[in-house]
Amino acid sequence: MSKAAASTNIESLLKETRVFKPAKEFAAEAHVRSMAQYKKLWTESVKNPDKFWKKQAEAELVWQKPFTRVLQWKEPFAKWFTGGRLNVSANCLDRWLDSGISNKAALIWEGEPATDGKPGEERVLTYKQLHREVSRFANVLKRNGIQKGDRIIIYLPMVPEAAIAMLACTRIGAVHSVVFGGFSAQSVADRIQDSGAKMVITADGGYRRGAVVPLKKNVDDALKLHDAAGQSLTKTIEKVIVLRRCANEVHMAEGRDVWWHRELDYVSDICAAEKMDSEAPLFILYTSGSTGKPKGILHTTAGYLLGTKLTSRYVFDLKLEDVYWCTADVGWVTGHSYIVYGPLANGATALMYEGAPNWPEPDRFWRIIQKYGVTILYTAPTAIRAFMKWGDEWPKKHDLSSLRLLGSVGEPINPEAWMWYHTVIGGGRCPIVDTWWQTETGSIMITPLPGATPTKPGTATLPFFGILPEVVDEQGKAVPKNSGGKLVVRKPWPSMLRGIWGDNERYKQTYWSEVKGSYFTGDGCRQDKDGYFWIVGRIDDVLNVAGHRIGTAEVESALVSHPNVAEAAVVGRPDELKGQALVCFVTLKTGVKATPELKNELRNHIGKEIGPVAKPDEVRFAEALPKTRSGKIMRRLLKQIASGLEVKGDTTTLEDLSVIAKLASGEE
Ligand code: WTA
Repeated sequence: MSKAAASTNIESLLKETRVFKPAKEFAAEAHVRSMAQYKKLWTESVKNPDKFWKKQAEAELVWQKPFTRVLQWKEPFAKWFTGGRLNVSANCLDRWLDSGISNKAALIWEGEPATDGKPGEERVLTYKQLHREVSRFANVLKRNGIQKGDRIIIYLPMVPEAAIAMLACTRIGAVHSVVFGGFSAQSVADRIQDSGAKMVITADGGYRRGAVVPLKKNVDDALKLHDAAGQSLTKTIEKVIVLRRCANEVHMAEGRDVWWHRELDYVSDICAAEKMDSEAPLFILYTSGSTGKPKGILHTTAGYLLGTKLTSRYVFDLKLEDVYWCTADVGWVTGHSYIVYGPLANGATALMYEGAPNWPEPDRFWRIIQKYGVTILYTAPTAIRAFMKWGDEWPKKHDLSSLRLLGSVGEPINPEAWMWYHTVIGGGRCPIVDTWWQTETGSIMITPLPGATPTKPGTATLPFFGILPEVVDEQGKAVPKNSGGKLVVRKPWPSMLRGIWGDNERYKQTYWSEVKGSYFTGDGCRQDKDGYFWIVGRIDDVLNVAGHRIGTAEVESALVSHPNVAEAAVVGRPDELKGQALVCFVTLKTGVKATPELKNELRNHIGKEIGPVAKPDEVRFAEALPKTRSGKIMRRLLKQIASGLEVKGDTTTLEDLSVIAKLASGEE
């Protein structure tokens, strides 16, 4: 977050004094019913974490072989529940087969409405059906040469097959890496190269606002890409499995590409769940960091499953009869933990929606809530702010009385959006859980428990069981209440990342060297007098645009890969809707003319290099970038310029920043 945004945010949050206590009726039925109960459990969990986690792991997970030790900790490397063996898909599916819920809906899927106005398709998969589909597809993976430990890229739209593919990987011990459908061919290729994946699972296309996103074509393009030395980026790929979704025309390469539906004809629906080591890699998920190269965050089997299972139940107060809807895409960690693994491990009913919130009209979400009687809604502040802007008439058209709990994730929620969510969507009766966590943490870390914690608009409140966060200064010492600092986590926890794929050094550097002995989150924070944590936003060079993490260095390296660009600096500026907007300052190579067309070309270039999610909001040409004497780009100054000075229209005149640089150089 830019300094300007951060400080206005802090000011408004400092003034926030409203407190919302859980309603008696809600608390009476909740998994955790009072602050006293929460405090007792939390204190026990951090005082004696081994005992706490042992008890939870034994009670919650189905083990094929019991673990012998709770935690082996050699900072910064953790091994949880060593000696144990278990399978994630068996914990999400098989365990429910002989129970009373085997015929209950595991996934309810709503497709995007067709362009001709026809309502979206609808599919329901019971636990029994999902188990069968996962087993069959796991056999398809084996048939196509996949073995334990192999990496598989999943590049699918929001269809049930995305969850089926993920669970099928876990069934046979393959490691999935889901790539969000809004990423480009280049991003797919980079992830294939970094993970050494053997297979891509994709679809012919995916629907987005009535158009078809050509996923298979993007994969074809990715498989042709080379690095600067002419080496193929994707030579490890042996097979591509293609799901038919949009029936758009695609090219199938003989011997490499196979159709999902055809493959199913060759396999049985019985596939034993592989006995996996507690610490066996489960998935890699790439996320932006402060260098140009995305980090492959590695999660492993037992700890991740335990973290997502427990938080799903306690934070969302999940019950068997709930219809729970998390609106994230499975391409992000929220989709992994809170559409697929956490809910299914609890035997819950999770809803999955393929399309956009405003297609064909801005009431799409509210229509779905009424249609299925959704009881729990988990979404992002950026979506909430968009709904506010579109107007109250859209939710008011629908009966939202089935809702009993609301959740928020991805970025700080401003009190105004919180209040709107509370009043207009929650009808004033639903608790809001503002959940703070990260791709790296695997599961929710700081959050209210809805039957216990009094909430205040704008804060994620208090830590979950077993989690010990702290706000510290430059020296790593705890700061007094109400002062800002860095947010760290003092103790290891089961669902923590186990590393960055193939790069232990970067793992140590990024997370364990900033504050000695603690995990550094990259976020700024303050604690109020009640100990509530108020997240201020990122303090590294990562931006949070519409709840998506985008590394400025990544966008910069995409920009300088364009032949006309000499140098680039990318910063964030506050944005009413998206939280932050991306602003690029670009100097051009000699002789290249600064034109509006070139601005557009650069935006598209970034779209091609990284994906449409990273397309900047603004490209500004400059004569030179302001630098310190030692040659460092003065980002602080650029942030001020980006948020302060209005650009009038699409002016393409070169900005002379050197003067400002000279003026400011004293303070840098
Ligand atoms: C931000 C998403 C404030 C934060 C689950 C974090 C939040 C980054 C919140 C992780 C929240 C997430 N309040 N900020 N409730 N939740 N963030 O990896 O900056 O996509 O470090 O994980 O989002 O983003 P990621």
